[in-house]
Amino acid sequence: MNHREDHTGPMRVLVTGGSGLVGRAIQHVVKEEGGAKEGEEWIFLSSKDANLMNTEETRAVFRKHQPTHVIHLAAMVGGLFKNMKLNLDFWIWSQKRNNVYINDNVLQAAHEVGVVKVVSCLSTCIFPDKTTYPIDETMIHNGPPHESNFGYSYAKRMIDVQNRGYFQQYGRCYTAVIPTNVFGPHDNFSIEDGHVLPGLIHKAYLAQSELNPHTQVIWGSGTPRRQFIYSLDLARLFLWVLRDYPEVDPIILSVGEEDEVSIKEAADAVVQALGFKGDVVYDTSKADGQFKKTASNAKLRRYLPDFTFTPFKQALKETCDWFVANYDSARK
Ligand SMILES: NC(=O)c1ccc[n+]([C@@H]2O[C@H](COP(=O)([O-])OP(=O)(O)OC[C@H]3O[C@@H](n4cnc5c(N)ncnc54)[C@H](OP(=O)(O)O)[C@@H]3O)[C@@H](O)[C@H]2O)c1
Repeated sequence: MNHREDHTGPMRVLVTGGSGLVGRAIQHVVKEEGGAKEGEEWIFLSSKDANLMNTEETRAVFRKHQPTHVIHLAAMVGGLFKNMKLNLDFWIWSQKRNNVYINDNVLQAAHEVGVVKVVSCLSTCIFPDKTTYPIDETMIHNGPPHESNFGYSYAKRMIDVQNRGYFQQYGRCYTAVIPTNVFGPHDNFSIEDGHVLPGLIHKAYLAQSELNPHTQVIWGSGTPRRQFIYSLDLARLFLWVLRDYPEVDPIILSVGEEDEVSIKEAADAVVQALGFKGDVVYDTSKADGQFKKTASNAKLRRYLPDFTFTPFKQALKETCDWFVANYDSARK
């Protein structure tokens, strides 16, 4: 499904989830790297501006800003262990943040105020658990997701369903990107609830501090494999999708298959980046999650053959340096 938007004139871009890991990276690219074009207006929302679970608050914030374009990042997000505990909340329930309400409110409010393009954010962890590799964009709905995060996965998959519906019935170019594991400054470094890489960084940091024994315990066997994307690379790609990607069908934003690393290799890289000198042990009584979800970036490469990703070790070093420098204020 291809669509060329007919918007002329400068964009007014509303970014939901603008205070999170990916939102802060987009802010950086827009404000510090000259990512915004002349005349454009960029508005970054946090949950303090509107609770997007609430339909009226969502409508009000869209009416107030009258965006022409939207990057939709806001979501209840978490790592393996938080997902395993709260599958229902990740789908739809309770007074907490949850994803189906947020997505439905944002897409409908965007449609109501005439937003010409929305780029929402899916994730490679929503793909079927039993699949062939590499995973590509056509496989999203091919089978059940991994049982550890079925709530999050089905909620995200429904964004793709809605995007197709808004295109079919209203000709809207509402699309989605599918990043692999994201990391970078402003991540959630919670050991319990965060993603694997920020959790590893936080643990290594604590293990080398004088207050703790000099052993870092890593949850799981260390054998699962992941592709990691630096938040700033993802932000640069988001801007390209917003401006130039013409399809309603989603696109995987990932480093190549050859850049996949095991959790053990990632942990070793963290140890190196932080200069950690102690022992590293693996607690195999903890869950590993999905063994791998190797994604193909062939579609991205067809559009952008020359895009250069920041080397993993460099990006990790920058992230560790940021965490150490901002330890007191970092989310953890
Ligand atoms: N992190 C990853 O590895 C990863 C991988 C693939 C895809 N993604 C997707 O990328 C997007 C951004 O993720 P992230 O890692 O940047 O998440 P994050 O750091 O946890 O940030 C979440 C953002 O959503 C906002 N938010 C949450 N609930 C809200 C609500 N009810 N109303 C309004 N705003 C709300 C938060 O606002 P406050 O700051 O005010 O709380 C924050 O700005 C998400 O859609 C996520 O599913 C992330």
